[in-house]
Amino acid sequence: MALLKETDFGTPAKQGAPVTLTIDGVDVTVPEGTSIMRAASQIDRPIPKLCATDSLDPWGSCRMCLVEVEGVKGTPASCTTPVRAGMVVTTQNDRLAKIRKGVMELYISDHPLDCLTCAANGDCELQDMAGAVGLREVRYGMDGANHFEAESRKPVDTSNPYFQFDPAKCIVCSRCVRACEEVQGTFALTIDGRGFASMVSAGTQIDDFFSSECVSCGACVQACPTATLMEASVVAKGVPTRSVETTCAYCGVGCSFKAELQGDQVVRMVPQKSGGANEGHSCVKGRFAWGYATHKDRVTTPMVRDAITDPWRAVSWDEAIGFAADRFKKIQAEHGKGAIGGITSSRCTNEEVYVVQKMIRAAFGNNNVDTCARVCHSPTGYGLKTTFGTSAGTQNFKSVEKADVILLIGANPTDGHPVFASRMKKRLREGAQIIVLDPRRIDLVKSPHIKAAHHVQLRPGTNVAVMNALAHTIVTEGLVDEKFVAERCEDADFDRWRAFVAEERNSPETLAERIGVEPETLRAAARLFATAGNGAIYYGLGVTEHSQGSTMVMAMANLAMATGNIGREGVGVNPLRGQNNVQGSCDMGSFPHEFPGYRHVSDAATRDLFEKAWGRPLLAEPGLRIPNMLAAAIDGTYRGIFVQGEDIAQSDPNTVHVTAALEAMDCVVVQDLFLNETAGYAHVFLPGTSFLEKDGTFTNAERRINRVRPVMKEATGLSEWEAVSRLAAAMGYDGMTYASAAEIMDEIAALTPTFAGVSHARLDSGASLQWPVNAAAPDGTPTMHKDGFVRGKGRFMVTEYVATDERTNRHFPLILTTGRILSQYNVGAQTRRTENGRWHAEDVLEVHPHDAEERGIGEGDMVSIGSRIGATVLRATITDRVPQGVVYTTFHHPVSGANVITTEFSDWATNCPEYKVTAVQVTKSNQPSDWQEHFRDVHERQFVVAAE
Ligand code: SF4
Ligand code: SF4
Ligand code: SF4
Ligand code: FES
Repeated sequence: MALLKETDFGTPAKQGAPVTLTIDGVDVTVPEGTSIMRAASQIDRPIPKLCATDSLDPWGSCRMCLVEVEGVKGTPASCTTPVRAGMVVTTQNDRLAKIRKGVMELYISDHPLDCLTCAANGDCELQDMAGAVGLREVRYGMDGANHFEAESRKPVDTSNPYFQFDPAKCIVCSRCVRACEEVQGTFALTIDGRGFASMVSAGTQIDDFFSSECVSCGACVQACPTATLMEASVVAKGVPTRSVETTCAYCGVGCSFKAELQGDQVVRMVPQKSGGANEGHSCVKGRFAWGYATHKDRVTTPMVRDAITDPWRAVSWDEAIGFAADRFKKIQAEHGKGAIGGITSSRCTNEEVYVVQKMIRAAFGNNNVDTCARVCHSPTGYGLKTTFGTSAGTQNFKSVEKADVILLIGANPTDGHPVFASRMKKRLREGAQIIVLDPRRIDLVKSPHIKAAHHVQLRPGTNVAVMNALAHTIVTEGLVDEKFVAERCEDADFDRWRAFVAEERNSPETLAERIGVEPETLRAAARLFATAGNGAIYYGLGVTEHSQGSTMVMAMANLAMATGNIGREGVGVNPLRGQNNVQGSCDMGSFPHEFPGYRHVSDAATRDLFEKAWGRPLLAEPGLRIPNMLAAAIDGTYRGIFVQGEDIAQSDPNTVHVTAALEAMDCVVVQDLFLNETAGYAHVFLPGTSFLEKDGTFTNAERRINRVRPVMKEATGLSEWEAVSRLAAAMGYDGMTYASAAEIMDEIAALTPTFAGVSHARLDSGASLQWPVNAAAPDGTPTMHKDGFVRGKGRFMVTEYVATDERTNRHFPLILTTGRILSQYNVGAQTRRTENGRWHAEDVLEVHPHDAEERGIGEGDMVSIGSRIGATVLRATITDRVPQGVVYTTFHHPVSGANVITTEFSDWATNCPEYKVTAVQVTKSNQPSDWQEHFRDVHERQFVVAAE
């Protein structure tokens, strides 16, 4: 596709009653509140502009967009003037042309005329506008005071690895400052000085972008109409010439992008305005951190080895697949069909995930398939299915724009889901309130123009107690939405729940000490949520990764139903999914007990459907979950595993146990981009494809099915689904002979009622679909449970609080909890191979000043952190973001070994690990832990590739 330019209408779209006016003799009808500029653009009468762009509120500073309006004196700015019924507007005549030319002359007289060598040549709005107004000369000459001559020119700021700032080219239109405020919500930029001295500033003493508050989202770069703020990649490579529309492969927000290329080289990623999830915004990862796709560490050739201590040997695809199939078949012959299985990846496309679970069920002949969602959002599936009837969030992201109060639980969107966080912050700036439930003081508790109404700074592990205390307040203070409950929910279940939460043992006063929060705060938070209007719940892994993760999900569903906050815009219960395709990998049948579409394997009709389609008998009993696979491996009954795009040796709890299990197996097959930690224990490495090479779909946290299109050819010579299909064939199953990823989606749609109306062709024609997409909802379902719950009536569940078995004591007096940071992503395999490492080169341990002082720990000291399971060594940072008694770290670097410490306690219903609560002791240390020594040793022995 040629370079795709999305129209800039100059000012944002409005919603309002239709208004008809006349522009240049043409009648046009637009919503009330629309600017003249936007209305003119809609009838293809674009008005010259510089300070306006349609992602920002109008500013009215450049005076380029002046028009004439009948009956109005002077020449109003079309960007700041809203339409009126009957208005008669002239956008172009000699008088207007003269004014615009004069304005442009002033701009150009203080602008370097180096267009031919400028990085933005051909992609510069200033250049375009000079052409549009017919400027041919600058009458004032270029010799006056200016910002571009050597003596007055400020140096170019190249401190940010992804974009540069060249002050000499700035026209002080303020679009960057406004983008940082209105779109991103970070407020990192300001205009310093007055008049001629006005200058964009990143507001720090050294005044560079890297050391400022800037989070490198790139919104300012996108908004800048000149080459002042410019991607470093464009400066280096030149302007792109073609575009491919695709989807970010990092988090569950699922932002749409245009990959802009020269040939098959990506020059930049530009977030798409038409993207339903992001509407033109992005974060540092999606916009800039795509270089890992061509990183030198990529392995693009299949490799095998007999033993994990042998060097890797590069082989052909046929040899690698034959090697894996022979080993799997041998294991099954000697130890039974159930001795092998596999894990799907939430980083892969729906189509890639679907073929892996199909291979396991149909070619391996068992249900031993699980997914990385086991360790993140499996409680979401269980809890929401039990209460509402389906395993997914209830809203689209846009819904937050109608929320009046947001209950944010165990999620840190500004780091984990940044583009959604920007939407949320915008709504908060408009006046909505937020209640934050988190042990840590995340940015949404307090940041520029944001202040939480309540920060419920609970003790880790007491989520359910908090929810019961909130529910107690709502029930006993008469705040239940009785009408909603009577019409929409099961009576008996509600009565049981009401009686349960009303018990005194669930009151804020009784639970306050356990929770560590004043009862009045809990009561005030409950009252606010129940009475402020539309109440929306958003949550993350701080909810699910607990021994009561599933109970907590049901507790949130109870709260939403009790307050009538479900089934319309602005409300709902919404998981913020971690990885790009967590929703999709679960939808595609990755759990051992469910076929695609969440249908239980014991259901005879569903089994019959799949048996007929796949031509193989299928088991009615659920297979093994990941923890069961690992335990069985240590017992010797489970001996082979196919691991798709997941690094369980780094991401799963109790690393020593995981690696012992991997070490015990006869055949570990890893399909991934890089030799990850799990590959250290593998016998076969099948090179995977990056998102820039994939063809398929991802499903984001809103259930939105987004197209992922190949931007470049596979570096490996084979797509992932083809490699899996060939492995299935080598295992003796010939039911996976697909010609394309689109064919795989056709099979998914034919077998999965919620996907019935989905196809690549439909998505390619511009449809943006949120499942269910079927006869009842041909265009998808942005809001779930509108006229009734998927299960019929909503089901309240009694949520007894049960403290975790993981307890602090004198030996392990602190609680470790974990999370993410903005610049890194998950186990860091991708982001560590980009410039993002500049922001977070190592995982550090946050320690409260009091706990640090007690232990003699200073800022930057190396500390040993030990639990009942293991110990590792990290650098400490002293901060009161964590409360006393709690320490916090991230897990983006393998050598940190965060999961060497985490225990095997898990959610009672789903086995989702209890990552968020580990009792630990922290002491000063100046040497690596035993595990870290072992880690280095393993790398020396097991990551060796034989010389060619
Ligand atoms: S990159 Fe984003 S955060 Fe940084 S200054 Fe620009 S808009 Fe603000
Ligand atoms: S940096 Fe760009 S967007 Fe910002 S004021 Fe200057 S020209 Fe305008
Ligand atoms: S918010 Fe998530 S999906 Fe969007 S650009 Fe950032 S990492 Fe990608
Ligand atoms: S575009 Fe209207 S005043 Fe600048």
